[in-house]
Amino acid sequence: MEKMPFRTEHVMLTPGLSSRVTADWRHGLPVLRGASITLRELQVSDAPALLAMLATEEVARFISPPPTSIEGFERFIRWTTEERAAGRYICFGVVPDGMDAPIGLFQVRQLEPGFATAEWGFALGSAFWGDGTFMEGAQLVLDYVFDIVGVHRLEARAAVRNGRGCGALRKVGAVQEGILRRSLLRNGEYLDQVLWTILDSDRAPTPAFSRPSVH
Ligand SMILES: CC(C)(COP(=O)(O)OP(=O)(O)OC[C@H]1O[C@@H](n2cnc3c(N)ncnc32)[C@H](O)[C@@H]1OP(=O)(O)O)[C@@H](O)C(=O)NCCC(=O)NCCS
Repeated sequence: MEKMPFRTEHVMLTPGLSSRVTADWRHGLPVLRGASITLRELQVSDAPALLAMLATEEVARFISPPPTSIEGFERFIRWTTEERAAGRYICFGVVPDGMDAPIGLFQVRQLEPGFATAEWGFALGSAFWGDGTFMEGAQLVLDYVFDIVGVHRLEARAAVRNGRGCGALRKVGAVQEGILRRSLLRNGEYLDQVLWTILDSDRAPTPAFSRPSVH
C-alpha cells in the first residue's frame, strides 16, 4: 500500500454480512495488546509525534508523502476517524510500552464494500526499524482483520526498490503476485511496485492461548 497512507477514498458500504462484521469497530477500534506494544486508534493529540516519526525522508521515500505539518496530521487523524465510522478504513497507531504517543501506524482499507478484499500499509519511525516492532504489530493487525473484520484477501503494494518494505511483507507470509509497472509517482519518477497478497487460507491456525488480548 505505498499510496494509501495519506489519501482519501470513498467506497459505499453495502448491507448484509459486511455491515454485521463491521458493526462493532465502526463505533471505535479496540485496543490490541502485544508483548511490548499496544495498537490503538489515533487521537488528534498524536499529530506532533506522528509528524516527528513519519515526515522524514527515509520513512517517506517510497510511500505517498505524509503531511508535513502538525495541522496536516490533525486533518489526517480526523479523516481516519470519519472513515472508520463509515466502515471503510481502519488505522491503528503503534505505541511501544513505556510511551504514550504512537511511533507509527498500520492502515487497512476496503477495496470492495464489506472488506472481503482489503489493502494494508504501514510506516514506523526509523528508530524502531529492525527491532521487532513491525513483526509484533503486523501479527496483531493480521489477526484482527482476518479474524474479526472478515478480510479474505489482503493486498499490499511496495515499491520494488523498497527493500525493507518488501522484506517485511515477505516475512509475514505475503506472496508476490506480480509487478505493477510504473504505478507509484514519487519525486517526479514513476516506480514499479510489487503486489503482495495474503489470503485467509494462507494463514496457519493460531492457538487460542497465543492470541492477542483485545480490550
Ligand atoms: C516497512 C517498515 C514498517 C518495516 O519495518 P522494519 O522494522 O524495517 O521491518 P523488519 O526489520 O522487521 O523487516 C524488514 C526485513 O527486510 C529485510 N531487508 C532490509 N533491507 C532489505 C533489502 N534492501 N532487500 C531485501 N530485504 C531487506 C530486513 O533484513 C528484514 O528481514 P529480517 O528481519 O529477516 O532480517 C519500515 O521499514 C518502514 O516504516 N519503512 C518506511 C515506510 C514504508 O516503506 N512502508 C512500506 C509500505 S508497504
